[in-house]
Amino acid sequence: MKITLYMATSIDGYITRGQEDSSWVSETDWDQFYSYIKASDAVIMGRKTMEQFDSDEFPIENSFNIVLTSNEDLHKEAENLSIREGSANDIVNFARKKGFENLLIIGGENTNGQFLRADLIDEIVLSVHPLIIGQGLTLFGKSDLDVKLQLLETKEINNELVQLRYKVLKEI
Ligand SMILES: NC(=O)c1ccc[n+]([C@@H]2O[C@H](COP(=O)([O-])OP(=O)(O)OC[C@H]3O[C@@H](n4cnc5c(N)ncnc54)[C@H](OP(=O)(O)O)[C@@H]3O)[C@@H](O)[C@H]2O)c1
Repeated sequence: MKITLYMATSIDGYITRGQEDSSWVSETDWDQFYSYIKASDAVIMGRKTMEQFDSDEFPIENSFNIVLTSNEDLHKEAENLSIREGSANDIVNFARKKGFENLLIIGGENTNGQFLRADLIDEIVLSVHPLIIGQGLTLFGKSDLDVKLQLLETKEINNELVQLRYKVLKEI
């Protein structure tokens, strides 16, 4: 199984402007994002990220959607959707039982941080936008992380975005 994190960021490492605004994410990035979605068996997101999608965009097509929430009223199983509670390891075990090989984590900060701290992320893809935002949510939240990465690829997209792909080097 391979677990990839895909995030759009400003050059100063923010994934939102303020607490939730990601309207600055470019159309070019959406195309890239959907190409990663199509290549995944399942996408994993937190409840707050789910709420950012319009009703006609969710559940995201071409992949199985796994949404995390502790709110049991929202828990639901559908053809390409599972809204559930669990640790990062529980969620990966659920996906493994479903036979999924490629998982894509799509945010936000809270969810990303849990999967990184559980040492479950294999690759990180950042779509760096030409923006300085100054304040907002970060990629993984504030904590005492110290994770080493290996740069696998850089791509310039549409003379606008820089896509960086990293391998997460696991502690042995
Ligand atoms: N720039 C980008 O590429 C990008 C990508 C994605 C999201 N975003 C932005 O990020 C923002 C959201 O980030 P966020 O960090 O605030 O929230 P988030 O990670 O999207 O969602 C957090 C929520 O998920 C639920 N959750 C997380 N872990 C859980 C677990 N182990 N078990 C059960 N429930 C769990 C909880 O929901 P309950 O409170 O319901 O229990 C928690 O409040 C959005 O506003 C979005 O705009 C940006």
